[in-house]
Amino acid sequence: MIISVLNQKGGVGKTTLSVNISASLTRMESRVLLIDADPQGSSLNWAAAREGEPLFTVIGLPRKTIHKEVAEISKGFDYVIIDGPPRVTDLARSAIMAADLVLIPVQPSPYDVWAAEEVVTLINEARIYKEKLKSAFVVNRKIANTAIGRDVGEALSEYNTPVLRGCVTQRVIFAEAAAKGCAVYEIDPQGPAAKEIDNLVNEIKEFIQ
Ligand SMILES: Nc1ncnc2c1ncn2[C@@H]1O[C@H](COP(=O)(O)OP(=O)(O)OP(=O)(O)O)[C@@H](O)[C@H]1O
Ligand SMILES: [Mg+2]
Repeated sequence: MIISVLNQKGGVGKTTLSVNISASLTRMESRVLLIDADPQGSSLNWAAAREGEPLFTVIGLPRKTIHKEVAEISKGFDYVIIDGPPRVTDLARSAIMAADLVLIPVQPSPYDVWAAEEVVTLINEARIYKEKLKSAFVVNRKIANTAIGRDVGEALSEYNTPVLRGCVTQRVIFAEAAAKGCAVYEIDPQGPAAKEIDNLVNEIKEFIQ
């Protein structure tokens, strides 16, 4: 199963969700490969910041040939997560063509809702060749108890793309964990951030069945 985490907009949480989804799947005993398709190399930096054993394998592949190489690279893994780059359209296209599911992180802001049009268009173009390609929005950096968190779901409905029920709340633990190359569950195993990520992963598993 290949999941690309993509949005042309920068800073929406592609890397944060990629590493934590990968970690959660690993904790659930799947074999996970994280491909960093972003020339910025944020997932690779995350892995390099870590002391001790890696949780899962991370490789850098910021090339527009990911879709051609992924079958060979992914042998022996249950899940491949592709952390996509912002802005670079040919890389995003390749990451979409490589994927079974494209997850689109969006922040609860009108700017993010507008900016999502670009990636949705790329996905719709890819469906001409890949009919079975799935896609879904995931709301990230939701601020608890605000109407904007609820409204974003409605605003996104114009894109005819499902919005996952599981949201990820704005929490400082995501940055704290990243600084150490850790997943949030390693910092606070029973905490609310780890629970949100696990819920999201369970929902993704259901969604792709
Ligand atoms: N749920 C969250 N709560 C708090 N901070 C978050 C959350 N998600 C992401 N961040 C922070 O927001 C910033 C951007 O996140 P991240 O790097 O994951 O986004 P990105 O989409 O991968 O960015 P880029 O487009 O540059 O690759 C980081 O500083 C990260 O720690
Ligand atoms: Mg990133």
